[in-house]
Amino acid sequence: MDTDGPRRKYDLYGHAFKRDAYRTFAEMRREDPIYRQVGLDGTTPIWFVTRYEDVDAMLRDPRFVRDEALARDPADRFVPTPLDRLIGNHMLNRDGDDHRRLRSLVSQAFTPKRVADLRPRVQAIADGLLDAVRDQGAMDLIGDFAFPLPTIVILEMLGVPAEDRERFRVWSNALVEPPMDGEARAAAVRHLTAFTDYLRELFEVRRAAPRDDLVTALLHAAEDGDALSEEELFSTVVLLIVAGHETTVNLIGNAMLALARHPQQLRALRDDPTAMPRAVEEFLRYDGSVERALNRWAARDIAWNGHTIARGEPVILILGSANRDPSRFVDADRFDPARQPNPHLAFGKGMHYCLGAPLARLETEIAMNTLLARLPSLELAVDEEDLRWRFLPGFRALEALPVRWAP
Ligand code: HEM
Repeated sequence: MDTDGPRRKYDLYGHAFKRDAYRTFAEMRREDPIYRQVGLDGTTPIWFVTRYEDVDAMLRDPRFVRDEALARDPADRFVPTPLDRLIGNHMLNRDGDDHRRLRSLVSQAFTPKRVADLRPRVQAIADGLLDAVRDQGAMDLIGDFAFPLPTIVILEMLGVPAEDRERFRVWSNALVEPPMDGEARAAAVRHLTAFTDYLRELFEVRRAAPRDDLVTALLHAAEDGDALSEEELFSTVVLLIVAGHETTVNLIGNAMLALARHPQQLRALRDDPTAMPRAVEEFLRYDGSVERALNRWAARDIAWNGHTIARGEPVILILGSANRDPSRFVDADRFDPARQPNPHLAFGKGMHYCLGAPLARLETEIAMNTLLARLPSLELAVDEEDLRWRFLPGFRALEALPVRWAP
């Protein structure tokens, strides 16, 4: 869908943009590093920020908040429905003490040590997925591998039956795909209602028969009402499921595309798997899956590099652009898996820095090493021109990535 309107100087949504996003970002960094234009709804002006220095500083600046209520008068605020409250009351939408409380409840499950313990299980899942397709000589790398791998991992951590994962895929899409008309909005509400109904039943089952999983741990916290409200319980589980769906999946896809475009680097990584952790940092920088941080709101009038960002105005920080800023990275458009240092912003910065970063790194390292080791002749099965990016503002996500190998 091409949604670029005449009143927008920069198309930041259409297919042509997605195909060549980094060229648009280079132009914005050069000409309009802090630029205000209407967003996807065609009416709301939004500040778009593209230089590394600004993105980095704004992510760490507490005057830019996630909670609209801290920045806008009640009359100007979006009025959430009960369903919105059930899915939106999580750490990524909170600031200050509330944010710290919500984050601390789950942070223990994602420490580097806890995540390292998952290595054998992640490896077994990756091997199992490739066992299933190896003799075929071809697959859709997204649907057959990149999608199931992180999804199975997060569902197992939470204690949600992994065989229900196709339903989560639909529900997760309903949360991240912007509904462009009334029909799509109604469908999204239906899906999200089904999602929360499913969780309600799951919570009942776990309450009756607790297990050693994240859902049970969160239920305990919710029983002690001060720690976690009912809405926060639902929202936290939804956040973890969705964060586990749209992020690592697409990083694995984008990483494979980068390697297909750079066969020499692909061979070098295949020959030296110990180089993969550093290469993962470059996959994140070069074509990370989260293109933009979520909207921030200015909590007061803020003077910034010659602009005044007024209280209540929304700001979008483009991580994918910051990561290609030549003032921060030497040869910023060059894909260099050995790049060091690599202070990319692909996981954000500051208090909302990605909680799942250790898990995402582990999954991507194992996914890529397993693909290269077990399918050494792996290559794209279509022309790059035929690849399509999903219409997901904020994410860089391929619809499919057909690959082939000699079985
Ligand atoms: C390649 C994979 C991933 C990328 C690129 C990524 C990126 C990000 C970014 C940029 C943010 C900050 C957003 C903002 O400030 O607006 C974030 C936050 C978050 N991510 Fe990730 N993420 C990834 C994987 C995961 C995984 C696997 C999980 C866990 C299941 C996860 C859980 C979270 C959570 C809970 C937050 C909110 C943290 C907070 O508000 O304190 N992420 N992620």
